[in-house]
Amino acid sequence: MARVLSGIKPTGTLTLGNYIGALKRFPAFQTLHNSFIFIADLHALTLPIDPEVLKKNAFDLAAFYLAAGLDPEKTTLFLQSQVSAHAELNTILTNYAYMGEMARMTQFKEKSEAKKEQAIGLGLFTYPVLMAADILLYDAEIVPVGEDQRQHVELTRDLAQRFNHRYGDVLVMPKAELSKVGARVMSLSDPTKKMSKSDPKGNIELSEDLASVRKKIMSAVTDSDTIVRYDVAQKPGISNLMTIYASLKEISLENVEKTFAGQTYGMFKKAVADVVCEELQQLQERYQSIVASGLVHHVLKQGAQRAQSIANATLQRVKAAVGLWL
Ligand code: AMP
Ligand code: TRP
Repeated sequence: MARVLSGIKPTGTLTLGNYIGALKRFPAFQTLHNSFIFIADLHALTLPIDPEVLKKNAFDLAAFYLAAGLDPEKTTLFLQSQVSAHAELNTILTNYAYMGEMARMTQFKEKSEAKKEQAIGLGLFTYPVLMAADILLYDAEIVPVGEDQRQHVELTRDLAQRFNHRYGDVLVMPKAELSKVGARVMSLSDPTKKMSKSDPKGNIELSEDLASVRKKIMSAVTDSDTIVRYDVAQKPGISNLMTIYASLKEISLENVEKTFAGQTYGMFKKAVADVVCEELQQLQERYQSIVASGLVHHVLKQGAQRAQSIANATLQRVKAAVGLWL
């Protein structure tokens, strides 16, 4: 059974972009693969965050993982900071990563530019090395992520190859797995930008009130044309809504075009709002019952134990390879 690994940062309320690009896809792996899904709380420290907010976000993310259908008997669900091997492998791997390649990472460039003249933490710069450690510790071959993380997985591959070239076959080569539709969900207020947790005007939050969700979709920025057609360059807003609809309905973009042939943008938007609200309503109900069950802490504790035993074995292999005493 191939190992699957992915994680999400508890930096804010999850968005529909997180859901379509990542979260919604995770449960499908747990039946056929050995799957590891975690809360990237160490990664959340790379930008300033209030301690109480971080704790609450981590809890909510765990509850949303379960609400989305992850079964803790089949998927090892854990908090990154509770498995110390992540930090240890990170320390070792930083020696094999180059400053130049870190500086070329798109996410680093965007996030450091956004900070303008403010100081930039070293953790933000070395973030992809920690992400590589996350992946390599579990010998993960499959890494389901959204488009924005493809570059980090590529870098992980480069690092693994560099390491193996020097020490032999120690690390397993991972591969990013992107969904065909929905790997990059765009902002509803500016469809040329990625939907993100930090943009409440253009995003939809998984815990958002459904009336507000509907309003945002009905007023999503589109174009002055009238045909529901997929064309990212000319019609980014409509194309984005089509992507959202196709992903949630699990149908092709061509099928969406056919379904809405001859219909107005208003009718199409209403249909999109209906599917999104239906999906979120179910998710929110399951989230509420999971929180009420009081099971989250127990699941994470058990997950950390299972994750530790796998991660520590890889760490031992790496330590032995580089010449550290076990
Ligand atoms: P993050 O919130 O940055 O930790 O992202 C968690 C996961 O969600 C990663 O796999 C991202 O690639 C994915 N993701 C985040 N935003 C989007 C988006 N707008 N569209 C598709 N996937 C996304
Ligand atoms: N960097 C990812 C993000 O911002 C989160 C993440 C951390 C991750 N470690 C990972 C994703 C390992 C996949 C595998 O979205």
